[in-house]
Amino acid sequence: MNIAVFVSGRGSNLQAILESDYSKDVISVKAVISDKKDCAAFQIAGKYFIPTFTIGNRPGKVSYNELITSLNKLEIELIVLAGFLKLIPTELLIVFQNKIINIHPALLPSYGGTGMYGMNVHRAVFNSGDKYSGATVHIVNKEYDSGRIIAQEKVDISGAKSPDELADEVLKVEHKLLPYVLRKIALGEIDLQSSQKIISL
Ligand code: GRF
Repeated sequence: MNIAVFVSGRGSNLQAILESDYSKDVISVKAVISDKKDCAAFQIAGKYFIPTFTIGNRPGKVSYNELITSLNKLEIELIVLAGFLKLIPTELLIVFQNKIINIHPALLPSYGGTGMYGMNVHRAVFNSGDKYSGATVHIVNKEYDSGRIIAQEKVDISGAKSPDELADEVLKVEHKLLPYVLRKIALGEIDLQSSQKIISL
């Protein structure tokens, strides 16, 4: 299955998709897209000779309409947001209806929405005193973190002594859950258009 991965930063989930035994034989990452031209994830894409696109309005960047043309040429079947911080515009949501997924580092619908990204999420969970956090994969719609949930994995965080430790525990699970879900989609075991079931590892 041909996918495009959208990133804004480090790219450890991109790396997991490229290297996991779950995904590497059934998933082909054909493009990596970012809103930040110098993000670390682009270096990972470079190592794998994957074309990159920086979205934006300035010279050298591509508009969403230009990107859609490129994604169609590359025969992209699914878009994966892995640490992409911007909202997805309507034109892309229409072309890829129910074909855009996101990984979120908490158990949605808790700890999602505007401003809930990165360490903001993990600090909020840590301060709440919750014993569990986790990772969620969901369909992307026009609001942050509110689309239909596809997969969720709980993580016992009772031993985490700081938000950083909590983030590390959750990230380890993200690196398994996302490739696992991608495998299931590629093999036709999850139908993104209609699936109401929430799977886990
Ligand atoms: C991950 O925690 C992901 O769940 C969230 O942003 C982070 C991205 O990390 N959406 P990385 O860039 O994949 O390392």
